[in-house]
Parts: sequence; C-alpha cells; structure tokens
Amino acid sequence: MQQSLPIVDSFGRRHTSLRISVTDRCNIRCVYCMPEFVKFLPQRDLLTFEEIERLVKMIVPLGVNQIRLTGGEPLVRSQLDLLVSMLVNVKGIDEVAMTTNAVLLDQQAQRLKDAGLRRLNISLDTIDANLFQQITRRDVLPKVLRGIDAALDVGFEGTRINAVPVPLLADEHLIALARFTKSKRLELRFIEYMPLDGDQQWNEGAVRSGLELRRLISKHVGTLIEAPRHDINQPAVDYQYQDNGVKIGFIDSVTSPFCQNCNRMRITAEGKFRNCLFSNAEWDLKTALRSGTDEEVISLIRSAITAKKRGHGTDDGSFFRPDRAMYQIGG
Ligand code: 5AD
Ligand code: SF4
Repeated sequence: MQQSLPIVDSFGRRHTSLRISVTDRCNIRCVYCMPEFVKFLPQRDLLTFEEIERLVKMIVPLGVNQIRLTGGEPLVRSQLDLLVSMLVNVKGIDEVAMTTNAVLLDQQAQRLKDAGLRRLNISLDTIDANLFQQITRRDVLPKVLRGIDAALDVGFEGTRINAVPVPLLADEHLIALARFTKSKRLELRFIEYMPLDGDQQWNEGAVRSGLELRRLISKHVGTLIEAPRHDINQPAVDYQYQDNGVKIGFIDSVTSPFCQNCNRMRITAEGKFRNCLFSNAEWDLKTALRSGTDEEVISLIRSAITAKKRGHGTDDGSFFRPDRAMYQIGG
C-alpha cells in the first residue's frame, strides 16, 4: 500500500526530484568544493548502474519524475551515457539532467544527447585562464570552453552556467563572465558560496550575496527585470536582461534559503541517502538495495524524509557545518 503514496515530509513538502551522485571523483579541484589531495572511494563502494536503475524504478511510483546526475564529476564515470539511457527509459521519468564541469564534454556531448539527456548545468566561475587555474587548481579552461560549445552544437537547450562567486573573483571577473554568457545566450546562475568546501575555509565574510551581484550585473552588463517563475521548486530567483531576454538566476542559498519549497532528495556515490545538502544524517540505502526488498528500500526513504528538518539555518545562526564536502554529497 505504502508503495504508491507520495513522499511527503512533516512540513508537507512533496519530494519529486532525486539527485544521484555517480562518483566522488573529479578531474579538477575547485577550492569551494574539494581539498587539493583527496582519497576517493574504491570502485566497489559505488552504486552500480543496475542498482541505480532499480532504485529509480522503485521511486517513480512515489511521484519522483526528475533525476539529476551529479558527482564529483559525473563524466569521469565510464559509460555514463549508458546510465542516462537506462534512466530515460524508466516509465514516469520526465527529465534526466546532469551537472558537469564540462572538461570531458567535448568528447561526450553527442553520445549524451543521443542517450536522451535533457539538460546540462555546467560549472564555470571565470573565463580568465589564470583565475580558472587558481580556482580549479587545473589548467583546463580551453577544454571547458570547447565542452560548452559542443553542448550548444549538438543542440542541448536550456544549458546553464553555474558560478560560485568566491573571494578570488573580483567584480571585473564576474562582469566578464556575465558578458560572456549573455553573448552566448546561456543562462548564468550565481550560487552563493556555501560552507561545503573541502578545506573548511568558508566564513561568512567570504559570501557575496545574490542581491549584491544583481546590482553589479544590472549596472555593468545590462538592466535586469524579473523573469516569470514557472517552477516554484526551482531554488533560483530568475531575472532576464531587458535588452535581449537572456536569463540570469541567483541562488541565494545562504542569505535567503529556499528550504520551504525543497523537493529534493540526494544519494551519495556510495549509496547513502540524504534528505538535505546540509544534514549530517545519512541512511544506508546501498545495504538496503543490496540485501533488502523493495519495501525495505522504500520504507528507508520514507523514514529519511520524515526526519527532514524545516531548513538548514544558514540565515539564522542555527546552522551546523556538515561533515562532508560538496564533492562527497553531490551538488
Ligand atoms: N558553494 C556553492 N556552490 C558550490 N558548488 C560546489 N561547491 C559549492 C559551494 N561550496 C556548486 C558547483 C557546481 C554545483 C554542483 O555546486 O558550482 O556547479
Ligand atoms: Fe569537481 Fe564540481 Fe567539485 Fe569543482 S565543484 S571540484 S568540478 S565536483
């Protein structure tokens, strides 16, 4: 019976979106996410494609219709296009999307498109090669730019660029990035720097608020007007340029959390279920998948969602930094 009821938490939030991290590995080392030297999970600890597919098949009847593949960097997991096609073919899934750093996208864009991947979010914080190297600790900006062009060439629509405005980035760099995305008609999304960096360097003073950035971009790149809101579950506040209509969004996750509309559940690469990016609690979904029945897996997910808190509290001081960094959770 419980098999077909939607997944609703104690605050009435209905959970329809599942973010699946397919690996904790990454081919770059963004300072706001990873430490320089990292010990990654052994391959055997990752959920297999078959396990992920089984889980998705189980969770769709409970109202989940959106999947986002995350990492680490999802494209370092081999044959990711195969997983995409497995998930796209699950009846009831409306959209399989992915967040990537685009380093390997040039080679894989066509295959991913053919497999049925719907949308891409690409992480890119700056188009200045030196700064890119300081932020990511790798010299691969040209590859990323080729990856972005490949995404456009093969016809991905609605591709977004995610940027985290860390203190290394001065106004001029943020403006240059906004001009670049505007001219390519790509939607830029500034995500406020959250306390999820592997080096634990985050502090409140390092956060540039979305509000501040809206003013900066409006002044130097083009007047912004509020864009119509289509999906209340989207965490971004969307604007568009008055002159060419290109969108730009701001995820004010620290100064203005969007927890009241959260519809997201997360699975880490090693198969732990998380009800919030900022929670320390995790549920061992992999063991349930490997040795339990479908009923047991679903009941574990329900207990985890029942335990979900109202919010993460980055805006009111009730916040505790989670033990894991972003790359270990999945964005
Ligand atoms: N704060 C904000 N955003 C972050 N991301 C990674 N770490 C952080 C952080 N500490 C973003 C990346 C990526 C997405 C998955 O999460 O830019 O696009
Ligand atoms: Fe890799 Fe993404 Fe983390 Fe950057 S933010 S180190 S691209 S996982």
